[in-house]
Amino acid sequence: MDDSSKDLWRLDGRRALVTGASRGIGLAIARALCERGAEVWMTARGRSTLEEAVAELNADGFRAHALAGDVSDADSRSRLIESIGAPLHILVNNAGYNIRKPALAYAGDEVRDIFGTNLMAAFDLSRAAHPALAAAGSASIVNVSSVAGLKHLRTGAPYAMSKAAMNQMTRNLAVEWADDGIRVNAVAPWYIDTPLARQVLDDPDFRAEVLARTPLKRIGRPEEVAATVAFLCLPAAGYISGQTLAVDGGFSIFGF
Ligand SMILES: NC(=O)c1ccc[n+]([C@@H]2O[C@H](COP(=O)([O-])OP(=O)(O)OC[C@H]3O[C@@H](n4cnc5c(N)ncnc54)[C@H](OP(=O)(O)O)[C@@H]3O)[C@@H](O)[C@H]2O)c1
Repeated sequence: MDDSSKDLWRLDGRRALVTGASRGIGLAIARALCERGAEVWMTARGRSTLEEAVAELNADGFRAHALAGDVSDADSRSRLIESIGAPLHILVNNAGYNIRKPALAYAGDEVRDIFGTNLMAAFDLSRAAHPALAAAGSASIVNVSSVAGLKHLRTGAPYAMSKAAMNQMTRNLAVEWADDGIRVNAVAPWYIDTPLARQVLDDPDFRAEVLARTPLKRIGRPEEVAATVAFLCLPAAGYISGQTLAVDGGFSIFGF
């Protein structure tokens, strides 16, 4: 393999921001980007867990930084982008959460808040990051969506709606920002073993139902989503844009 083909699989010299990076899928993404050579800024609201996660990566010899903040808050987003500066080669919009309920049971600001974190924060952070991403010359946004944005699942409608909108946001921004050298893709995981998913997977009956609907017959690992995200950021994926790639053990293509 010559030097140029090796470079296709590396992120040396690239600067990345990963949201929701203190645990679960986001932390695995930060590690995967570090392992390919990137310098990574990580954000989450809980400062101490975030700082522990960053310290662990730095102890392994990687270059990671903690910037605590709430991506659903406009001031927080501005502070993040200002602190990192330009160029920014990679933005991973991963922070997300859910409140599972029947559609008629949502009250007060619950629906607005789900949209605020899962969708609007990703849209507004992408827009705020645009100058720094464009300054990179070649940049990549990856949105962490869900198979709930492709199919009906028992997640509750607002979460699914936020992820479906994220998939379309991915397509629109991919076209709009192609001339700026910014590729935009999404990954859509099915059940992945994280603190968020354990809330439902700890119920053995629920877990058995999930496995019965999964051709690969196991729950996914955060590292498997992270590897897909890292791939989409690599020069090797330089001709891929606007796609939503399911990381789902075959769930979304499993018919009868
Ligand atoms: N796990 C799955 O099975 C699964 C499946 C499909 C899609 N996903 C998606 O994958 C993403 C990550 O999920 P996960 O399972 O890894 O979740 P998780 O274990 O609950 O971790 C969520 C991360 O996001 C941070 N976060 C949450 N709200 C935030 C906010 N407003 N601002 C900044 N950081 C915030 C959390 O830290 P703080 O709480 O300290 O802020 C934490 O670091 C989500 O978008 C989720 O919808 C997960």
